[in-house]
Amino acid sequence: MGQNPKYISLFSGIGGLEPSSGAPVVFCELDRVSREVLARAYPQTRLHDDIKTLKGDGADFVLGGWPCQDLSTAGLMAGLSGVKSGLFYELCRIVRESGAHTAIMENVPGLFISRGGEDFLDVLKALDEQGLKHIAWRTLNSTELGLPQYRERIFIVASRDKNRALAVHARKPRPDLADVQCDCPDVLGFYWTGGARSLCIRKNAIPALKVGAPSEKGGTSPIAVFYGTTVRKLTPEEAIQLQGFDRKLVEGIGYGDVLRMAGDAVSRPVGAFVVDSVFEVSNEQAIELRPSEVGKVPEHGYWHSGRMCLIRHNRTFKHRHIWKFLDSDAKRQLSPQAAAGLCCRIIRAEADVPSALFEVLHERSKTRTPLLGTKVNSFDILHNELDANGYLKRLKSKRPHVQSEFFGTLD
Ligand SMILES: C[S@@+](CC[C@H](N)C(=O)[O-])C[C@H]1O[C@@H](n2cnc3c(N)ncnc32)[C@H](O)[C@@H]1O
Repeated sequence: MGQNPKYISLFSGIGGLEPSSGAPVVFCELDRVSREVLARAYPQTRLHDDIKTLKGDGADFVLGGWPCQDLSTAGLMAGLSGVKSGLFYELCRIVRESGAHTAIMENVPGLFISRGGEDFLDVLKALDEQGLKHIAWRTLNSTELGLPQYRERIFIVASRDKNRALAVHARKPRPDLADVQCDCPDVLGFYWTGGARSLCIRKNAIPALKVGAPSEKGGTSPIAVFYGTTVRKLTPEEAIQLQGFDRKLVEGIGYGDVLRMAGDAVSRPVGAFVVDSVFEVSNEQAIELRPSEVGKVPEHGYWHSGRMCLIRHNRTFKHRHIWKFLDSDAKRQLSPQAAAGLCCRIIRAEADVPSALFEVLHERSKTRTPLLGTKVNSFDILHNELDANGYLKRLKSKRPHVQSEFFGTLD
């Protein structure tokens, strides 16, 4: 095969699932703002909006991370019969029409368990029906490629050629970890969900940027960072960099749009790692296939003619320090209202957070501000109904255990 294989990019978002170099024949993306970003990065490439009206012109590869809303554990789990995740079948149509010999796809790990595993089997069968009879998949975390973001995704490669499908397993990620040991402050990255209990927290990294991250005003589950006495939301530029993109790409685009697009994207170095591995397949790869447990889809695997195999990978979650991705001049603190709401959530969930974070949030919640568009008065709940000081004491007394397990020498 020549240097630049012909490929079609579907559900392109702002990009991410592409080789390190080389543009596709066409990008297909419904969202207007995402298309605007694609046009900045690839001014010569044709753009199409709705996959339903796209014709599959000749290509060797079809690439796409189809919508996951019906598969993700956060959604209603309608699975592949859902309106959005069912667009997978449009991807199959494009494979058929274009005559592609290989498809490279991305999705959330929820696909493994959607409808008790039935949806994943349906994906395998549908690809098999297109003649892509060798199907391999690998689970990768963005931290494995050095990004300080715990984003777990599955990458599926379906091909007419066994060696090509197995190429997704052939390489070991070699991230640039130049500043993994940096002399910088510890940072906690976290988000909280709309429910009363959920708080997800990571040290010197962030949890996964979310699909459909809310706008500045909606603010139900933004990613925030805590260091020193600062607690603030990530800026859109930081979010886009934490996906491995250049911040210049989204210059002048609104806060909500950038966060949404960042949440939707495939982390750039992860996408490039997968696509390069498959485009640059070698004939000498020896991948050991083991029998998989009956009824269980392995996180890394291979499937052919109804036979499921397991593949082992030793995963290393060593990543760059998040400090290198943060803007030192971003000073906008979390609002007192958000801080009060978060304190309520932490107390109710009895969440083991570092006492320093709780202390800073509690202090901020004491500056009472006019309530913005909410019926729940977190200030009153926190200060009249919950015992924040008592909770802080309890956190401090548990700290040695919590700190050693999760937070190192944070405060
Ligand atoms: C989960 S995202 C995948 C993002 C992409 N894989 C990336 O690398 O950024 C799904 C994308 O599909 C797009 N999409 C949804 N419905 C579509 C349709 N009917 N036609 C084309 N794109 C669509 C969404 O706008 C979204 O950007």
